[in-house]
Amino acid sequence: MLEELWYKNSIIYSLDLETFMDLNGDGVGDFEGLARRLDYLNAMGIDCIWLAPFQPTPNKDNGYDISDYYGVDPRHGSSGNFVEFMHQANKRGIKVIIDLVVNHTSDQHPWFQDARSSENARHRDWYVWNKAKPSDWNEGMVFPGVQDSTWSYDKKAKAWYFHRFHDFQPDLNWDNPEVRAEIKRIIGFWLELGIAGFRVDAVPFMIESPEPNTSKHELNFDYLREMRRFVQWRRGEAILLGEANVMPEENKKYFGEEGNGIHMMFNFYVNQHMFYALATSNIEPLVEALEATRTDFPTVQWAHFLRNHDELDLGRLTDEQREEVFARFAPDDDMQLYDRGIRRRLSTMLGNRQHSELAYSLMFSLPGTPVIRYGDEIGMGDDLSLKERDAVRTPMQWTDDYQAGFSTADKLVHPVIDKGPYSYHHINVENQRRDPDSLLNWMTALIRLRQECTEIGFGDWQILKTNKPKILCLHYSWQGSSLIILHNFDEKAHEVILDLKLEKKDKQGKEQKLIDLMVNYESEADDKGKHYITMEAYGYRWFRAGDVSHLLKKG
Ligand code: NOJ
Repeated sequence: MLEELWYKNSIIYSLDLETFMDLNGDGVGDFEGLARRLDYLNAMGIDCIWLAPFQPTPNKDNGYDISDYYGVDPRHGSSGNFVEFMHQANKRGIKVIIDLVVNHTSDQHPWFQDARSSENARHRDWYVWNKAKPSDWNEGMVFPGVQDSTWSYDKKAKAWYFHRFHDFQPDLNWDNPEVRAEIKRIIGFWLELGIAGFRVDAVPFMIESPEPNTSKHELNFDYLREMRRFVQWRRGEAILLGEANVMPEENKKYFGEEGNGIHMMFNFYVNQHMFYALATSNIEPLVEALEATRTDFPTVQWAHFLRNHDELDLGRLTDEQREEVFARFAPDDDMQLYDRGIRRRLSTMLGNRQHSELAYSLMFSLPGTPVIRYGDEIGMGDDLSLKERDAVRTPMQWTDDYQAGFSTADKLVHPVIDKGPYSYHHINVENQRRDPDSLLNWMTALIRLRQECTEIGFGDWQILKTNKPKILCLHYSWQGSSLIILHNFDEKAHEVILDLKLEKKDKQGKEQKLIDLMVNYESEADDKGKHYITMEAYGYRWFRAGDVSHLLKKG
């Protein structure tokens, strides 16, 4: 029955409407523009779009400050445009998940405006207040260096309010049952409009009960289970995909002891160790991270990614490891952010095509569901002259025309990259569509390959030791079919010896070969049953084998 779970073998594409395609020429991307680009996403093989927040917002945090949960920000179009877009997406078999940002609202939200108006206001208890200045008012900031506090005084309310993020993002009081009931209404509203689930923003902060004068806040996992139940009652196949950059042990609580918590989580832990492996070619910490995040229930699933709309957060690495990644991928101060992260795109960090292919092939081969960031499929760059995380939020580069074909307006929400090797004159969809060797066409082939390798989403996996310490060998088995996937993190070529402990012939007398799924090559074992496989510098190979499930560790 596992095959029922669509999210186990899907490719997710994340985008922000603002910077994807502007059809009405006002400099901001919109639903009509996105609808026009659905054929592009469909041709690439995308199964699901994750839309960043698009609801009405003062837009002081890229839309993560919502002032009305039931609408569409007029900059992106109308509710009618949203429904039309949903229709067009569904017609192509593309699912849509949207951000659910309910840890906090915008301070401009009518609930907060009411809450601050008086102690007896209808919505007062929807937020977290304290009369006196909490002693921990300047502890636990998520954006160190940019954010000064987590409690701020509101003159009108004559009280201090809690905000895990910026002061214009007051936290909702999740301990108030009315707040949770309203959040269910929001969930129900969007599910009714046909979405396939939510990317849940800031989950650990959402379920915490903030107390003044202590930075130790209790987490209430019942709230997550309650949310999951509600989603499933309303729409059986809908999912929750959580954002929680937590340690592996802690993570189990989010999936739920019986797999009854959140369905999917971004694997931040593996993400950071992947970058460590890419920076140093030392794969041991990555192997440990993969083992540490093994899941216990077949219905839960990791989402793997390389870059997203935020900084590349390296906070879970040791100080030494982080310094090594900085030294390789972000040597200048202005490439780093919040004392823990990097504000660059993948291509500019890795600097060459082969290394980028290795990174993407790796991410697609990990136990979980791949999530791609818009623009990475053509190798877009970043603009470090923009502030903070805006560096990686420049408009999509469609063509070599004015404003990269993104818009006809002179002034854009963020400027296009028009200089240097990553400018839209060199890097754009139109060029790459026509070039059979382009990154875009390579990525399209990788997507198709991943979709054919259902062993990854459904099967059991294991890391096989090889004779080469810089080569990662992953093995999957599912219903009598197996995959052997190799990645060489070294800048030098190697020959790997694989002993799959297979008879030379299968029961039908057919030679048991490893069949390369990317190039026209088959590996036959020698007399002792060993395969000798050449791995190029930063090379990767995906093989289908017969049934090698006997290699899986028992227990
Ligand atoms: C996490 C989002 O990814 C980030 O972009 C945002 O600033 C914070 N949550 C606050 O909503």
